[in-house]
Amino acid sequence: MHVIDVTTTKPYQVALGTMLLERTGEIVRGVCGGTRAVIITDSNVGPLYAHIVRESLEHEGYTVSIFTFPAGEEHKCASTLIDALEFIAEAQLSRSDCVIALGGGVTGDLAGFAAATYMRGCHFVQMPTSLLAMVDSSVGGKTAIDLKAGKNLAGAFWQPDVVIADIGCLGTLEDDRVADGCGEVIKHGVIADAELFATLEQTPLTADLIRSDLALVERLIARNIEIKRDVVVADERESNLRKLLNFGHSIGHAVEACANYQLGHGTCVAIGMVAIARAAAARGVCAPDVPQRIEAVCRAHGLATRTACSVDDIFEAALHDKKRAGDAIDIVLPHRVGACSIEHVSLAAFKTLIEDGIQTGANA
Ligand code: GLY
Repeated sequence: MHVIDVTTTKPYQVALGTMLLERTGEIVRGVCGGTRAVIITDSNVGPLYAHIVRESLEHEGYTVSIFTFPAGEEHKCASTLIDALEFIAEAQLSRSDCVIALGGGVTGDLAGFAAATYMRGCHFVQMPTSLLAMVDSSVGGKTAIDLKAGKNLAGAFWQPDVVIADIGCLGTLEDDRVADGCGEVIKHGVIADAELFATLEQTPLTADLIRSDLALVERLIARNIEIKRDVVVADERESNLRKLLNFGHSIGHAVEACANYQLGHGTCVAIGMVAIARAAAARGVCAPDVPQRIEAVCRAHGLATRTACSVDDIFEAALHDKKRAGDAIDIVLPHRVGACSIEHVSLAAFKTLIEDGIQTGANA
């Protein structure tokens, strides 16, 4: 098992390993206290794991209630949040009790926002079951719901009391759900760790690898959590350095919106990373092999790197992104694999970057 310390203003640990669902009760007892717990999960994950988590918590003396919402990003919305809050209130949670997110990024974001707002904040435990949630969204305290105008437009920073990541859960993920998380894993390599990137080039993090070498997968995930941790600890509220984590996301989020959220997040991030790296290479910011290597590693992880969306549509969608500040936007440019910088550019310059970088075509 790996235990990773996250020394944010509220310090906590990430426990990463196998057979951790069964140990939820003792881990939660160690950090939260309280007598009641509400597990928030979705209709895909709940039937697989909620009973294991419930039994473990009850064994520690907790009174447990389970709130299950329909799976899907479209349910990360205000009405599900209100339903969750009403459920938590009916379960009579006090501020010393805890809300537990059991699932992927959607569940973590929604449950975290509920925990941040219930009685102005109660204890919160992240139990990520997807690769994306383990390497990215469960660490760092971002919580949110989507509004009609865009993704994650209402939210709060609310750090968890502990993250319990049982990598045994990854075994049930479909290939495309693994690939979804790999967009963030590749991103971490490009922004911070050339060695991690080289490992991914040699041994792609696929569903096959999860089935065949869980020890290597655990080490890779641990390294990703450390990278995310280091950035978040340096800049918890995203005033500067944390923006590095948006590498590939300004264009990626826009492609996601243009495609009506029918493309996986990992694919959209891959399209965004390759596009911005191609634009950076065209300006001499990085060598031509940087976009080539990023594109090759994305493809090796099953991620498409071209889009059917037009430059105009992508640019239009990017205007609604919360990373925009007036008539400018912060973007992340790669200088080499393992080192990026944050640049504040005008919207006109951003459009030129999209034009220079985006590859239109059939593969997404
Ligand atoms: N996923 C980007 C961040 O947590 O800042």
